[in-house]
Parts: sequence; C-alpha cells; structure tokens
Amino acid sequence: MVGPLLAPSSAPLSPPIFTQDDFKKAAAYKAVEFVHSGMVLGLGTGSTARHAVDRIGDLLRQGKLKDIVGIPTSKKTYDQAVSLGIPLSDLDSHPVIDLAIDGADEVDPDLNLVKGRGGSLLREKMVECVCKKFIVIVDESKLVDFIGGSGLAMPVEVVPYCWKFTAVRLQNLFKDSGCVTKLRTVGENGEPYVTDNENYIVDLYFNKDIGDLKVASDRILRLAGVVEHGMFLDMATTVIVAGELGITIKDK
Ligand code: 5RP
Repeated sequence: MVGPLLAPSSAPLSPPIFTQDDFKKAAAYKAVEFVHSGMVLGLGTGSTARHAVDRIGDLLRQGKLKDIVGIPTSKKTYDQAVSLGIPLSDLDSHPVIDLAIDGADEVDPDLNLVKGRGGSLLREKMVECVCKKFIVIVDESKLVDFIGGSGLAMPVEVVPYCWKFTAVRLQNLFKDSGCVTKLRTVGENGEPYVTDNENYIVDLYFNKDIGDLKVASDRILRLAGVVEHGMFLDMATTVIVAGELGITIKDK
C-alpha cells in the first residue's frame, strides 16, 4: 500500500467521496511517476490510460519531461497525443519500448489481464509485448479471482469474413465453461463494431473458470479467422490499483 489518495481539490469538511474516475486518475498519475525523460513510451487506450496520456502531455508542456517518444495503441490515443503535442512514432521505427502504461478490464491474482473491451486489444498487445516494463493502471473494480470472473466480455478480434462461423467455433472451444459468444455492435441498428484494423470483435462470456489460460490462449489463436484475443498473460510487470484504501502497487 503506497498511501491514501489526496482529497479532491474542493474537499468538503466531511470525508471526501471519491468517484471511480478519481481512482483511475490516481492510478494513472502514480504510473507516470515511473516515466523519465528520453523514454520511448507505449501509450494505452481507455478512460484510465487517458489520464496518464494527459499527465504526460502536461509534464512535457511544463518542461518537466523531455525527449519522450510515444507509441499510441489506438487511433483515439494517437489523436489525443497529437492534441497534447506528444511526439509520436511507431513500432517500425521503435521496436523496443521502455515503458507502456495502460488500463485493463480484469486483473487476476497472477497479474494476468483481460483487455480490449475498448476495442484496441491488437495494437495494445503488439505494443505491450515489446516493452521492458508494462504498468497496468486500474481502479479496484477490475480485480477478479480468475480471468472471466467479472462475468463481462473476453474480446476476440476476428476477420469480418464469415465471422459467424468463427464465433461458433470459438463457442465450441469453451462449451464446458458455458461459453456464449456475441458480435460487438454499435448504434441503434446493431452495426458491427469495426476495430482500427478493420476487423470485428466477438465477445466471449463464460459462466465458470476456463482453466489453464495458456492452453485457452493457444486454442483460440489456432482458429483460422482469429486475429488476436484479449487475454494478456504474463505481460504486466506492475499493476497499480487505486481504491477506497489508497494505492497499491503489485509487482510481478
Ligand atoms: C481498450 C482496453 C482498455 O485498457 C480497457 O478496456 C480498460 O478501459 P478503461 O480504462 O476505460 O476501464 O483494453 O482496448
């Protein structure tokens, strides 16, 4: 435990009430303390990572950080970083990254993750698997006993061609875990959600533990039609959790 969160600036006399977003911001700001001038940084995607990118932009503007190169993990983060004046590059030019900071949808006790409910899992995985240090920033609601344990989606990015066929094959892989698959859609007409890489996302829901995660990962990746899945196994080096009791830093 690192310590209690600071009270919001307009602190009332009664005990402060923190929102989930306060926790996300607290975790993000703590992670940015690990950023140093000259680093190549993986810039994550989502409402938690957004705070970290904002903070990096602030520190650059204030001259407290210099010579940073950011590698964004989505078009959205690219746009945010450009608006903040953060110099950007890509994996072709910077195949090794010093530090990546990103959120997650689930974190298990071994620091395995589910990511991609924001839809950016492929670029996130490409960036975060080549970084020397990967700091995951979450509020305490993201902690689970086992992957899939939140009852929420485990995303799989698939090619649009015959996605229904791929979804059925994914469901069959995990029928012992009560797996149900659902194409991610947007808008009132239920149009498929299209990723930055022009693919679709099939979300997997389980009603129990899917067992050995490495085995599950290999089985998913062996299916033709699958591009990538949202399990990030053995990738996080540090997880920063913010919650009612303050900030906790978990190291692998
Ligand atoms: C996007 C992601 C996000 O990191 C994940 O969904 C967490 O998002 P948030 O910080 O908004 O809860 O993987 O693809």
